[in-house]
Amino acid sequence: MHVAIIMDGNGRWASRRGLPRTAGHAAGARAVNRTVEAAARGPIDILTLYAFSSSNWSRPHNEVRHLMGLFRRYLISETARCVENGVRVCVIGRRDRLGADLVQAIECTETLTRGGTRLMLRLAVDYSSREALTQAAEAGGDSSFAERLAADGMLDVDLLIRTGGERRLSDFLLWESAYAELVFVDAFWPDFDENALAEALDQFHKRERRFGGLRPAPCLQNSGAQR
Ligand code: IPE
Ligand code: IPE
Ligand code: MG
Repeated sequence: MHVAIIMDGNGRWASRRGLPRTAGHAAGARAVNRTVEAAARGPIDILTLYAFSSSNWSRPHNEVRHLMGLFRRYLISETARCVENGVRVCVIGRRDRLGADLVQAIECTETLTRGGTRLMLRLAVDYSSREALTQAAEAGGDSSFAERLAADGMLDVDLLIRTGGERRLSDFLLWESAYAELVFVDAFWPDFDENALAEALDQFHKRERRFGGLRPAPCLQNSGAQR
């Protein structure tokens, strides 16, 4: 099962507490830890987290710098635990605009965790779905467009969660979410935890996925397209 999360609301979480936005991002990193641990214990095979969109470069320089430092420290501090827990880390998005030290940390974490089979954790950094699609379209070649996207790691999303109360995709996994179930959570990302994930999974399991077909006959329910 592939779960993707738009981790939104760090800044508002901090503002409500009279704290700088950067404090919200630090609290958001703790929520990432809780969520990854819960995901590794549960039915999730792939977890894709939206950490920094290509549009987020338009934020104040200080906030961007803080976020980049946070990603690097996160990778360095969590790699050993990921190896221990069988979590394979992959970073998706552009790398050519990231600092050399961050790229080095990404490559190091990806190499050290590549044997993990319990959970694939994909972190989207400097990510734009439109750009990823445009690039695949421009790449050409012999294979079909869909095959190229699959080869680029564009995996269908089963459940897409967005925290922070907004109900939009903000350029995240547009192709992959074609038949994703959408769950919008009002809580800000730093307050997200194992219970919130369980609640979202609960909602997912109550949905009937039809993929354009008809309702299955009652005797066939719980089989077929449900993953
Ligand atoms: C999400 O929280 C984290 C990133 C986009 C990096 P925000 O920083 O967007 O928080 P809000 O939406 O302003 O509250
Ligand atoms: C989406 O959140 C990006 C991430 C969570 C990394 P934003 O806060 O950037 O999205 P908008 O601006 O509200 O659409
Ligand atoms: Mg936001």
